[in-house]
Amino acid sequence: MNGNGLSITPSGGGVGAFVDGIDLSQPLSDNITGAMRAVLGDHGALFFRDQDLTPDQHIAFAGEFGPININRFFPAVDGYPEIAEVCKEPEQESNIGNRWHSDHSYDAAPALGSVLLARETPPQGGDTLFASMFRAYDSLSDGLKKTLEQLRAVHSSRHVFGRDSAAYYKGRPGLAERFSNADAAVQDSIHPLIVRHPISGRQALYINPAFTVGIEGWDNGESAPFLSMLYEHVVRPEHTYRYQWAPGSIAFWDNRATWHYVVNDYHGSRRLMHRITIEGVPLEA
Ligand code: SIN
Repeated sequence: MNGNGLSITPSGGGVGAFVDGIDLSQPLSDNITGAMRAVLGDHGALFFRDQDLTPDQHIAFAGEFGPININRFFPAVDGYPEIAEVCKEPEQESNIGNRWHSDHSYDAAPALGSVLLARETPPQGGDTLFASMFRAYDSLSDGLKKTLEQLRAVHSSRHVFGRDSAAYYKGRPGLAERFSNADAAVQDSIHPLIVRHPISGRQALYINPAFTVGIEGWDNGESAPFLSMLYEHVVRPEHTYRYQWAPGSIAFWDNRATWHYVVNDYHGSRRLMHRITIEGVPLEA
């Protein structure tokens, strides 16, 4: 318990902390949001239980942490352009988020993070795995850290949300059709491979298998195996935590400090999540 009545319990895995003793439907004091921001900067993700929020309360909570990003590619909840719907219907085979990724790394100022609220969950399965990019950095050798600190990586939205996304969705039927606005997928950005977290100042590895397309100045034959080696390192079990959802559960993750991956093991059941993404800042080494 800290001085604000918040109870913070580290997840026990490599990333995330549970936050209890708070009703997110009520306005929050600056002390509380400041404490949450600090925990997010340290742990990379905040997990809440039993938060029965209306869409307006969901928007008000997320808005405490920065301006809301209106998603270009996801369907929105009716009447709420701020809330993206992440859904898999019982008859659908593929789900959204079934590859390790960090949202919006293709933007010049990548999103701070997202507040994802579970509306309907399957009786079993549909967990989300998180990985800590702080731990991934910390556990590299000093020699490799020095090398990575000199590099920058190129990130893009084109191959995921653009017109030429067929290769990305190979083997995942029906998924590409759930996104729209392919002509808006024109973002390419270059970020340092090792960033300083804008809240905590901790160093984090900043690349991800979905949106990173190469290392600046390297050709693909050099970049691809090097990035694969780093990706394998990130998902070591010691760096991860597997979050189980129930209706009213919330995960608030920081994209600069984490990856996430949604397990697709709940065929025949509906899983409906409401996601609000918060704008971030340009990232520095
Ligand atoms: C996402 O990848 O943003 C969705 C995460 C989830 O549905 O758990």
